[in-house]
Amino acid sequence: MSPDAAEFPTFELDGVAVPLQPGDTILQAARRAGHDIAHLCWDARVSPSASCRLCTVLLDGRPVAACVTPAQPGSSVQAHTPALALQRLRLLQMLFVEGRHFCPGCERSGACRLQHEAQRAGMTDLHFELLDPDRRVDASHPDVWFEPARCILCQLCVRASAELDGKHVFAIGGHGLGAHLLIDSPSGRLGDSALSVHDHAAHICPVGALLPKRVGFAQPIGRRPFDDAETRG
Ligand code: SF4
Ligand code: FES
Repeated sequence: MSPDAAEFPTFELDGVAVPLQPGDTILQAARRAGHDIAHLCWDARVSPSASCRLCTVLLDGRPVAACVTPAQPGSSVQAHTPALALQRLRLLQMLFVEGRHFCPGCERSGACRLQHEAQRAGMTDLHFELLDPDRRVDASHPDVWFEPARCILCQLCVRASAELDGKHVFAIGGHGLGAHLLIDSPSGRLGDSALSVHDHAAHICPVGALLPKRVGFAQPIGRRPFDDAETRG
């Protein structure tokens, strides 16, 4: 290894050298270098959970979750292969059929990471049969709207409530298709929980499942985070 390489360790991401800092995951190092690896359940403000698997890359040929796997000097990472692209597309299509995601009518359109990743993945159909779950809206909280049919179980609100807000308002219960977001309150409804609209947990949802009330469409369409984003990763 050359002295320069020893001083500034790098790994290869799709053939491009990416510098890494001590403690970096693959996702962190890649993002710092301007490569946005697809992800849904990762947010820099909370610990990673590796639950969505959308960030799966090949580390020296082995599939790993980029959001939790340490970047290794001298390694070779592939984030874009036909097989990975198909796997991402199918994961996204499964999420879309498992819930109710009607983007044109959703307040988060243009600011939704699920929609953004689907666009990047070139998703044009659902591929699977729509499950159309019967999950009631929870509008019991005075300031926060909860629409369970849009929840992708990313656990970001769970971690934000525990790690940033010092509360434990949310948890995940059940398994497989029965998995769902649990709310810590006597009634199981949001309005009886300790959630405040000022909590990080009320704002961290990457889709339109948890939304502060009375601020709908405050950010005009055309000026939302993903409106001008590159749609082909
Ligand atoms: Fe994730 Fe939002 Fe569901 Fe919480 S409500 S688990 S942040 S999708
Ligand atoms: Fe890595 Fe979800 S972003 S598993």
